[in-house]
Amino acid sequence: MSEPNRTTSVDIPPPVAMLQMIAGFWVSRAIYIAAKLGIADLLKDGAKNSEALAQATGLHAPSLYRVLRALASVGVFAEDEQGRFALTPIAATLRTDVPGSLRAFAIAELGEDHYPAWGEVLHSVKTGEIAFDHLFGMDVWQYRAQHPEDGKIFDEAMASFSSVVNATVVASYDFSSIGKIVDVGGGDGSLIASILRANPGMKGVLFDLPHVIAGARRRIEAEGLAERCEVVGGDAFVSVPSGGDAYLLKWIIHDWDDERSVALLKSCHRAMAKNGKLLVVEAIIPSDDTPSFHKFMDLNMLVMTGGRERTEAEYQTLLEAAGFRLVGIIPTQSEMRVIEGIRA
Ligand SMILES: C[S@@+](CC[C@H](N)C(=O)[O-])C[C@H]1O[C@@H](n2cnc3c(N)ncnc32)[C@H](O)[C@@H]1O
Repeated sequence: MSEPNRTTSVDIPPPVAMLQMIAGFWVSRAIYIAAKLGIADLLKDGAKNSEALAQATGLHAPSLYRVLRALASVGVFAEDEQGRFALTPIAATLRTDVPGSLRAFAIAELGEDHYPAWGEVLHSVKTGEIAFDHLFGMDVWQYRAQHPEDGKIFDEAMASFSSVVNATVVASYDFSSIGKIVDVGGGDGSLIASILRANPGMKGVLFDLPHVIAGARRRIEAEGLAERCEVVGGDAFVSVPSGGDAYLLKWIIHDWDDERSVALLKSCHRAMAKNGKLLVVEAIIPSDDTPSFHKFMDLNMLVMTGGRERTEAEYQTLLEAAGFRLVGIIPTQSEMRVIEGIRA
């Protein structure tokens, strides 16, 4: 049988394709530098050379030049004949002030906690254990509680993604029959705020770990939703607020292994109103051998949290194990799906 040949759509020799992949983390770390130092923000009003950028960021100009030149060679920044660097559309995604900015995500995913944890990926593959916990001696949630700066940048990364994804979820799913919705692990509150704004008759509860809810409370108050949305801190493995008509879990289940996921889903099952709904918002990975960003996000989960990305069949099994029946998978314009369950 011949080898499948789908390295890229452009016909490049396999060793070149492999070298590009091997060097992938060099590119990632160079992007980390640009993101961390806010280079894209410094270029938003026009091109600058590495001396000017180094002066603004307190860096070594000749070394910064080499980083920017390398990044320009892969389309992040463009270098002109005078050695000045300008934003490209790809570089502009690292600006802080653009909708869906990827700056916080780049810092969070390539920085001080994720990067060393990924260095231990072999440990995860040898043992099935969480590389992060092995390295830091605690899980990511405890780590972020103890390192508020890292926690803040992670929350910003989630919020920035959410600013794009939330609108697609609100536009794709009909929330109108729900009287009270509980957002479990609701993070900064941006999703529940979008849902409540679009559904003026609805009430909400935002639930997350105690150290996370202060920021969420500020957002709910600033958006004038405090009357309609309670903000509650706690541990979802112990219990979640009761009496909701719908329990929403966005980007929660993929953080956990099957056993812990079932425990979380059971918490919702116990708490929900009689005809309540479960709404799990996640990407679904294809069950066949097609390309998917989330097949690598799955590795990120292996390294960071012990969670996983799942196929449709795997979500079905998970929901059933927690006493739910999967009744629908609603696509959105993003890669996220709303997986709808009811009590079996
Ligand atoms: C990947 S983030 C997703 C946040 C948000 N749902 C979103 O989509 O932007 C996971 C969230 O789960 C929360 N979390 C983790 N462990 C939790 C627990 N035991 N109980 C409640 N929330 C928890 C975290 O604080 C974090 O806000």
